[in-house]
Amino acid sequence: MMGGSVMLLLAAIFFISSTALLVLKKERRRIIFGRFNFRRRRASGARTPPRSLSPGKKQLGNSLNSDYSDTFPPSRRFTLAEIQSNLPTTFEKSKDALALSLPVSTKTCLPLATSYFKAKTTLFTPTGFSTEEIKALGDFPDYAILSGVPLPQPYHDFNITKALPRPYRPFRWAYHQTMSILKMEPDWWLELENTYMKRIKQRQGLFAKHGKGVLQALPGSELVCKELMEMAVQFLCARYPQYFRLDKEKMVLYNSILNTETDIKRTAPLHVLLNNVPEDFAIMLRDPDTGHYCFRAGVICSALGWNVDSKIGLKLHEIHAPIPDYKEKMQFSMDRYFSRLHTDKPIQRASWGLEVDQPLYMPPGDPHEKHRDVQHSDLEISRCHLRVDWQTLRRLPLSGAIVFNFKALFTPVESFRDEPYVPALVLKILKEGKKTLMDYKSTWHTEHVVIPQLEKYAREQVQKGWVPEGWETGTLEESPYFPGWEEKWRREQGF
Ligand SMILES: *[C@@H]1O[C@H](CO)[C@@H](O)[C@H](O)[C@H]1NC(C)=O
Repeated sequence: MMGGSVMLLLAAIFFISSTALLVLKKERRRIIFGRFNFRRRRASGARTPPRSLSPGKKQLGNSLNSDYSDTFPPSRRFTLAEIQSNLPTTFEKSKDALALSLPVSTKTCLPLATSYFKAKTTLFTPTGFSTEEIKALGDFPDYAILSGVPLPQPYHDFNITKALPRPYRPFRWAYHQTMSILKMEPDWWLELENTYMKRIKQRQGLFAKHGKGVLQALPGSELVCKELMEMAVQFLCARYPQYFRLDKEKMVLYNSILNTETDIKRTAPLHVLLNNVPEDFAIMLRDPDTGHYCFRAGVICSALGWNVDSKIGLKLHEIHAPIPDYKEKMQFSMDRYFSRLHTDKPIQRASWGLEVDQPLYMPPGDPHEKHRDVQHSDLEISRCHLRVDWQTLRRLPLSGAIVFNFKALFTPVESFRDEPYVPALVLKILKEGKKTLMDYKSTWHTEHVVIPQLEKYAREQVQKGWVPEGWETGTLEESPYFPGWEEKWRREQGF
């Protein structure tokens, strides 16, 4: 299968070394090299031996059908004490439940396909909350406390008609170091920009046309869908107060970009998202019988090569089945990673590819796929785009479900011209990147045009003195950006 399904690319992230290690390394590098601008630019880890797939291999054998039914993420139940004082009196009853402090066990887990609202006895979510507690918490509880991830700072200067996404250039060399997982920045979980209106319309159009192909919620996902919607609404209202407001009495969300009012009680949570957040969400629920994670709900309008309908209901490893070597080399680590992911440690990363024009939704068999099989001789550079899928992965506090969200951002390749080091770095990857990986990214159909152009830009940047002659190509310290990115971004945005 061609073309980097975003979900599949997700697999490439998790199986190597720990997040903490990478973050530490980066911090250390910053401290050590902070004062030496030139040295900072050198390939920092190019000589590190590939760590590639060894952790998975080591564990192979007894690992593939690992039982995670006794493995739970850290409980968030202790946060109830912190928000207790703000709670309505209806919470009195669950104060007793809190005192019991029952450990979660497989026997008392809410079953995969059961709604929390219909549970007749006290059952628990993977993060340790009982069904009674969740009902008592009501609508829009304080998710910052529950999750341990702070709400974003208000972005008063933000103007939706002028806003540009931050210029993500997630290029890394050498390529075996692809695991650049970063801590999620709480201010940037859902990043809006000037394509907002266009994208919302486009996504609503895709739903009108494809229905279940792009949006579904299976039984048992009631809680997580509500929780995700409420978290997204809380985020938008805190981050962009000039554009979003929630009236908790009336339960109405006001969106002054679109001039719409959404009746929260009468609108299915995923539809609230579809109509207000131009972002894709894939929701993975823990199956208490096995401890494995299943894709149970989502709204996905910008995947290449798959859609909701082709993956819904599948387990993590079933979703990734088309990836060569996934089972042998990645499944164990991925399953383990998901089983333990902490609610207060969300992550972010990017994947990228080169595209002709701006293909957003490309289910299997889409006519746009044919573009990728041909190097058109009349292709113009102005039609070549970098597509970055900016992704975050987090566990939600109440449901304990894991949400993978991403958005596709397109940048003309011509923008690289004034971005120091970027042309040389992309060239290195296109020319010397591992063949299997580049096939997977499917950049080939643009390379006959993009490579000569980037060569020109790279020469120009050396002549201008932006890049030292003979620069030893490597991941930039500013990754996933480039030196001077913020100045360029603010200048183009106007704020
Ligand atoms: C946002 O920018 C547009 C275009 O420059 C301008 O017309 C509008 O007044 C700005 N909005 C705010 C709230 O500043």
